[in-house]
Amino acid sequence: MTADPSDGPFPEDGDGIGEAWSTDDAGPTRAAVILPWSRFEHASASQNLGTQDSGGLNRPRAAEARLAEAVGLCASIGLVVVHDAILPLRIRRPSTLLGEGQVSSQGRELARHHVTVAIVDAMLTPVQQRNLERAWGCKVIDRTGLILDIFGERAATKEGTLQVELAHLEYQRSRLVRSWTHLERQRGGFGFLGGPGETQIEADRRLIDERLVRLKKDLEQVRRTRGLHRSARKRVPFPVVALVGYTNAGKSTLFNALTGAEVMAKDQLFATLDPTMRGLRLPSGRRVILSDTVGFISELPHELVEAFRATLEEVAQADIILHVRDAAHPDSAAQRADVMKVLDDMVADGALDDAWPSRTIEVLNKADLLGGVEGVSARPGAVAVSAITGDGLSALVRAIDARIAEGMETATYDIPPEDGASLAWLYQHGEVVTRSDADTAVRVTVRLLPADRARFERRA
Ligand code: GTP
Repeated sequence: MTADPSDGPFPEDGDGIGEAWSTDDAGPTRAAVILPWSRFEHASASQNLGTQDSGGLNRPRAAEARLAEAVGLCASIGLVVVHDAILPLRIRRPSTLLGEGQVSSQGRELARHHVTVAIVDAMLTPVQQRNLERAWGCKVIDRTGLILDIFGERAATKEGTLQVELAHLEYQRSRLVRSWTHLERQRGGFGFLGGPGETQIEADRRLIDERLVRLKKDLEQVRRTRGLHRSARKRVPFPVVALVGYTNAGKSTLFNALTGAEVMAKDQLFATLDPTMRGLRLPSGRRVILSDTVGFISELPHELVEAFRATLEEVAQADIILHVRDAAHPDSAAQRADVMKVLDDMVADGALDDAWPSRTIEVLNKADLLGGVEGVSARPGAVAVSAITGDGLSALVRAIDARIAEGMETATYDIPPEDGASLAWLYQHGEVVTRSDADTAVRVTVRLLPADRARFERRA
């Protein structure tokens, strides 16, 4: 996963502090990923895997997986990772988070690899971030900063952009509040009239607050309009099938494999911050709309939860939810629990109805890495597939078909013979089971989705 340190030029001065740190003219930015790993804090992940030690040579699989995710996140915004490390965290030092020895040994590694950005895959206080930057002589980014940057790059719609900016400002604001004394001291060092002091901090806060109010208003407005768009789409006579799951589980690959669309086949995390939709015809001939959503990430910083959840609103509208899992991932079970929890939280907030599990099909992807679909032990109702080889996809579309049929209701209507439009509507939206034509009425028994049945009866 680590690129060859000898390739490509690198910026000589090594000082990206306060500047844009993605790719520039000097070539790709050389980055390091440092994962402080605490057995205590990561206990749940370790338990799932039965991992023990967190020492350098005997890295736990859960830590390896977490490191791989962080490296993938960096790659998705064009950083070239030339060094990585998992550091056992025994105590959290307030000044640098890491231990003294770790700071200096990593400092040597970073210099040796000419790293200009170090990503510390943890939450850093502003003080810790600044101290590490000083000790290492390079830009230091924490996990939230990295994810904010990725969200910022990936946000495609107006709403996505606003959400990311909101999250960014809230993050900045919380750091001002928590640590303004330190900032004051640090800024004072630059010699501007003895430092900005509290009034500057308060001015910063007021500016941020004003911008936050504006942003929230804009977001409100955008959401209202989107509500209109969605109700327009709800009139599209096809059930919606939404894909959810962890980042890198293979949602986009599956989406493409099922629909033949060439949209987002990238080996990048967060290829899909904004939901994308495509039509798909099932074996029964029934048409559905497949909707891809943004991926979950482990330990999403709380500032970003709302921005992320808003991207899941599509799920609430879905007739079927495909929960796509990377069955070969060492944290697969913990990831599954995370996804379920976010959806359950949406129920608690009234954003999703509590019957969502009955509409959900678990898709165990990457079966090719586990010896094929037969090699994957799927719980009842789950379907093992490989989006790459296409293995199991026909079973999956049959399962979607069956689940939609299960949700259908049977109704019988007497339609006046001259009302051809109603008859046509029923043929188009439902499955006509029996039909008998009499002089006074055409009696049809038809299977319909609950929403379509309600719509027809309102209309009639
Ligand atoms: P986000 O957009 O970040 O949420 O990711 P995603 O869930 O859409 O994942 P994506 O489809 O981008 O796939 C992530 C990586 O997994 C890519 O490198 C894919 O090639 C790979 N991948 C997807 N499906 C399979 C599979 O069935 N088998 C194997 N071996 N790799 C797969």
